[in-house]
Amino acid sequence: MNTPLGTDRQQAARDHLWMHMARHSGLHNGGKVPIISRGEGHMIYDDAGRGYIDGLAGLFVVNAGHGRAELAEVMAKQAEKLAFMPLWSYAHEPAIDLAERLAGYAPGDLNRVFFTTGGGEAVESAFKLAKQYFKLKGQPGKTKVISRALAYHGTPQGALAITSLPGMKTPFEPLVPGTFRVPNTNFYRAPEMFSENEKDFGLWAAERIREAIEFEGADSVAAVFLEPVQNSGGCFPPPPGYFDRVREICDEYDVLLVSDETICAFGRIGDMFACNDFGYTPDIITSAKALTSGYVPLGVMIASEKLFEPFTKGDTTFYHGYTFGGHPVAAAVAMANLDIFEREDLNGNVHRNADAFKSTLEKLKDIDIVGDVRGAGYFYGIELVKDKSTKETFNDEESERLLRDYLTPALWEAGLYCRADDRGDPVIQLAPPITIGQPEFDQIESILRSVLSEASSKI
Ligand SMILES: Cc1ncc(COP(=O)(O)O)c(C=O)c1O
Repeated sequence: MNTPLGTDRQQAARDHLWMHMARHSGLHNGGKVPIISRGEGHMIYDDAGRGYIDGLAGLFVVNAGHGRAELAEVMAKQAEKLAFMPLWSYAHEPAIDLAERLAGYAPGDLNRVFFTTGGGEAVESAFKLAKQYFKLKGQPGKTKVISRALAYHGTPQGALAITSLPGMKTPFEPLVPGTFRVPNTNFYRAPEMFSENEKDFGLWAAERIREAIEFEGADSVAAVFLEPVQNSGGCFPPPPGYFDRVREICDEYDVLLVSDETICAFGRIGDMFACNDFGYTPDIITSAKALTSGYVPLGVMIASEKLFEPFTKGDTTFYHGYTFGGHPVAAAVAMANLDIFEREDLNGNVHRNADAFKSTLEKLKDIDIVGDVRGAGYFYGIELVKDKSTKETFNDEESERLLRDYLTPALWEAGLYCRADDRGDPVIQLAPPITIGQPEFDQIESILRSVLSEASSKI
């Protein structure tokens, strides 16, 4: 007789569960899979009942915190009333209400709301819309896309083509052609001549977009995809004036500006949409993750009236869709999630406490390997360096020992779930639920202090 399901989940995970972006070799050598059983507020608990601070809100997702019974109840009610209808030429109340609400939060005339099930699909949708829009406008050659070094925009083959992490792309090449890279806004590693002047650095970085458009030919470029604060590489905020200049360049060359807010929306930086925090109006916003605080999957592309206009005529159709995009249960949960944001003023919590969060983390700069603390809102990256005076980074082997062999398990052991990442230079990333305040900032700092202080001796 087979053993009943659930008897040995470690073994079953090793035998059957193909985890995402995971190295399975370690597991097959006897490594243990962390199994998370429940969450409450800003805490998650493993299958042995041990608690951890959720320093990453799952994966930049659970902004309103775990364990909200209210959201579970909304889910159950909606599933009972209408479990499913697609948005393929039909509509349902939760999707209509949510579309209206999101259009209200979005800047300018970004009024047209297209639902997906996640961020990669939202990026994919924006890429396809940009191409079709220009075809409909009689500029069929405008198909190319520009994005920034190290940026991550998702895994579908179009979104992956826009992503700028060679290690994640090469196994799947050839990808969608016609994507190009410009520098990101990592001020810590800005060219020497800008080391004292962030504004000039931002203008220089914006000019690289203009240059790329000119190199490729404006007639061939459809869109620029940028995150408000770039996640991959370790939280690069936009220098002052950067987005103003990018907007001017996009207008001058008739190139669409896509604000990929898969992470940065819904309070992560402070506003419902981070473009509002930084004062620019894109042509398209893409988002997902915290729209439902992760209680169910949902993504979104929000486009301006200009982009929708050609689709109001004759038989013109955006032949694009997802069975589960804008699922009624997901849309109902998103509405209830946003009700919580407003009722508890979660965005206000971020606006009031972001500086305190940053300055608490900045205390870590007295540790020998902490080179930089950067970010905005409740979204920070701590860059680790071998030599603070020269900013020398770790080589691949050292980085492997530091991040994978030491930091990831040590932080977990010390009770903090966060990300130790080496997609650029090594960084620790923090993006906790936006419900927390100073007591939790202090706990996070204290755990990081004890673990990072030991790190040099482990390399
Ligand atoms: C900026 C950005 N775009 C797109 C994606 C892809 O989102 P998803 O994993 O929901 O497809 C992510 C995921 O983290 C992201 O950070």
